Amino acid sequence: MAQIIDGKAVSASVKAEVAEETEKLKEEKGLNVGLAVVIVGNDPASRVYVNNKKKACEAVGFQSFEYALDENTTQEQLLDLVNKLNSDTSVNGILVQLPLPKHIDEKAVINAISPAKDVDAFHPENVGRIMIGEYSFLPCTPAGVMRLIESTGVDITGKQCVVIGRSNIVGKPQAMLLLQKNGTVTICHSKTKNLKEICLGADILVVAIGRAKFVTGDMIKEGAVVIDVGMDRDENGKLCGDVDFESAEKKAGYITPVPGGVGPMTIAMLMKNTLTAAKQQAGIE
Ligand code: GUN
Repeated sequence: MAQIIDGKAVSASVKAEVAEETEKLKEEKGLNVGLAVVIVGNDPASRVYVNNKKKACEAVGFQSFEYALDENTTQEQLLDLVNKLNSDTSVNGILVQLPLPKHIDEKAVINAISPAKDVDAFHPENVGRIMIGEYSFLPCTPAGVMRLIESTGVDITGKQCVVIGRSNIVGKPQAMLLLQKNGTVTICHSKTKNLKEICLGADILVVAIGRAKFVTGDMIKEGAVVIDVGMDRDENGKLCGDVDFESAEKKAGYITPVPGGVGPMTIAMLMKNTLTAAKQQAGIE
């Protein structure tokens, strides 16, 4: 039976580290840390995420600036706001919540965010930095996954690491981070043949494909570390992950639950990136 990796506990310890350092920055250097979050339109899921980000900012002692824009906001108006935030010194990090309404070109908006304030690490400059291992920010979800793996005490060096999913936000950067920690990395996706065999060879399996309970216990190597990035609904509408937890926990050595695994880590890493951005902008790091 697997040991459960407690994402809430690991996330709380990251946030506590950030809160402590934020307090020190205020006391010793008179610096405040600020995050601007921009949301366009009324997507209910996005609204929940943005509220959670705001709460996390308050909990670690950041200022949060929320810009809730109308669904009909034009691309030009949004780009104007991004430019204004780029030059606002009280804003250290900028996050534009995705997805954006269809009439707005997401790439144009991401490209407009100053790379120094791009706490999502979505800007091509930051993506490129990850490839060469010279980064300031890591994308929040893959960075959170790395912290969860670290929390198990399992050393990644030389391990067979399998990532299922090849998105720009999770799968691809995740593979790079595992590679940087000396893992032997395989990336699988919807066209992969022999997926089960490949998964059965994985010492560390990260699943980010967005299909409910896709990975089952018979695909998991005895004792593997299984990290579930999925956030899906099962046939009864209940929240679940990309991994069938019930069968998987019988085979895995360590496993993340959904909810309470990767989810809480994403926001904690966003707080950490914002703190890093503030320190760099102040010439401290
Ligand atoms: N929408 C869903 N996840 C994310 C995220 O991590 N960052 C942004 N900007 N939008 C999202």
